[in-house]
Amino acid sequence: MAEERSTLGKVLFTEQDILDKAKELGAQITEDYQDSDLIVVGTLKGAVMWMSDLVKNIDLDLKMDFVSASSYGSGTTTSGLVKITKDLSMDIYQKDVLIVEDIIDTGTTLHYLTKKFAERGPKSVKICTMLDKPSRRRVPLTPDYKAFTVEDLFIIGYGLDYDQKYRNLPYISYLEPGDIQE
Ligand code: IMP
Ligand code: MG
Repeated sequence: MAEERSTLGKVLFTEQDILDKAKELGAQITEDYQDSDLIVVGTLKGAVMWMSDLVKNIDLDLKMDFVSASSYGSGTTTSGLVKITKDLSMDIYQKDVLIVEDIIDTGTTLHYLTKKFAERGPKSVKICTMLDKPSRRRVPLTPDYKAFTVEDLFIIGYGLDYDQKYRNLPYISYLEPGDIQE
């Protein structure tokens, strides 16, 4: 099994690389959110692993919630239309919201989510992403915290999927264009 996994492509970031970044950004967030009412919101399903690493390194009394948003269609490109398929369970009025995302690609999903959340009167809304693919941006969006920047590749592993597979890989890799069926 382990050998089969290692043929999936080059490892871009190891688990240790990710844990090091979670520690660094967790410390920064701890400093930035002193005396605030922090709700960390993970985007399902991709951000789950990164979020769990991150929050263990934030030394504050935070709360955790989750949201699931999907852009229409299930291929590897984003269509531009977003809907919330699972909303927050908490009220974010006058709270500090930190959205934790797996990857920002075109920016469509987070642009929509930050706009929707802003309508609920939070004190602040910021973004912490594991990966950023700025070359693909269609909507202006800059994360407040980010672990790594990646090229225009189709990324898998550590939460990220292709057709719901590969989320459990304990590292970040990518698929070669020949492996992707649009
Ligand atoms: P955006 O709305 O185009 O920024 O896309 C955001 C979502 O698309 C991410 O949260 C991922 O779920 C998915 N996505 C974008 N790029 C990739 C990728 O390279 N691999 C896996 N999923 C991706
Ligand atoms: Mg996502």
